[in-house]
Amino acid sequence: MAKVIGPGSLIADVTGFAPHLPAAGETAKGTTLRFGPGGKGSNQMTAAHRAGADVKMISCRGNDFLGMMMHDFYVREGMSEEYIRADDSFETGSALIEVSETNAQNRIIVILAANEKVGREAVFAAEKEFSDADAVLAQFETTPEAVLAAKELAKKYHKPFILNPAPCIPMPDGLYDGIDYLTPNETEAELLTGVKVETEEDCRLASEKLFALGVRNVIITLGSRGAYFRNPEKELFIPAVTSVKAIDTTGAGDAFNGGFAAAVAEGLPVEDALKFATCAAAISVTRLGTGPSMPQREEILALLKEEFGLTL
Ligand code: RIB
Repeated sequence: MAKVIGPGSLIADVTGFAPHLPAAGETAKGTTLRFGPGGKGSNQMTAAHRAGADVKMISCRGNDFLGMMMHDFYVREGMSEEYIRADDSFETGSALIEVSETNAQNRIIVILAANEKVGREAVFAAEKEFSDADAVLAQFETTPEAVLAAKELAKKYHKPFILNPAPCIPMPDGLYDGIDYLTPNETEAELLTGVKVETEEDCRLASEKLFALGVRNVIITLGSRGAYFRNPEKELFIPAVTSVKAIDTTGAGDAFNGGFAAAVAEGLPVEDALKFATCAAAISVTRLGTGPSMPQREEILALLKEEFGLTL
């Protein structure tokens, strides 16, 4: 089984659904409140796990009730907690999410808490897992030191390093060089490059700036428009799946990144991996929540065949 490893966040999501999102100072009447397992790291690893990979996430949580909710989810999913430190003195990360029932869009405040305890040491404690991994995956909900350490080990063992630069922070020194796949959305691409990403030409320009910094392959996710891929030899545009009805787009980027990591780990050609990831994201938006909304492999394969005529 293909294996994906990396540092990532465990966050308990508290989500309120309302017909519209309130403006600053406004109180909007909502309809539903849900608690659920989330965190960009955990969502992406869940997506990779359900897509067929063996996953190991390096993380940290408290032993509070939010931490127990995350633990229960890992037990139910059959996901490894070997590198998840649980400590009585930490608080589990949490997020306040608002979802509009009109357009399925969201707003998020994330409180990293225990995830900020995941540093270089925690990543190196899992070094043996990198040597036989097939892909290394990271985001920015732990510490920059943890992400740098993950890239260092990915390079040491010649494993593809995938970085989803979310939430966007100033890139730590030395991180760009040698990233195999950098996967910003339009907003993150603009923050990283200064290029407002609206057209395909903008994607091209933003990618060139990232190549100049040492990134090997750039994937810009464009929401309902699809995904743009570029490396110095190849350019691809993968359209989004439009046959699905979106009810909650929270975690769609995570479904894409986790699906993509699983596909790269399996050794799929990049175009097929992007289609696989696109299908994973499309299914996730048809469900409420984040971690629990990630699709199973069979669902992705069925949509891949229906939408792209691709059989794996
Ligand atoms: O990408 C969605 C995730 O971002 C949510 O699950 C929330 O925890 C935030 O970290």
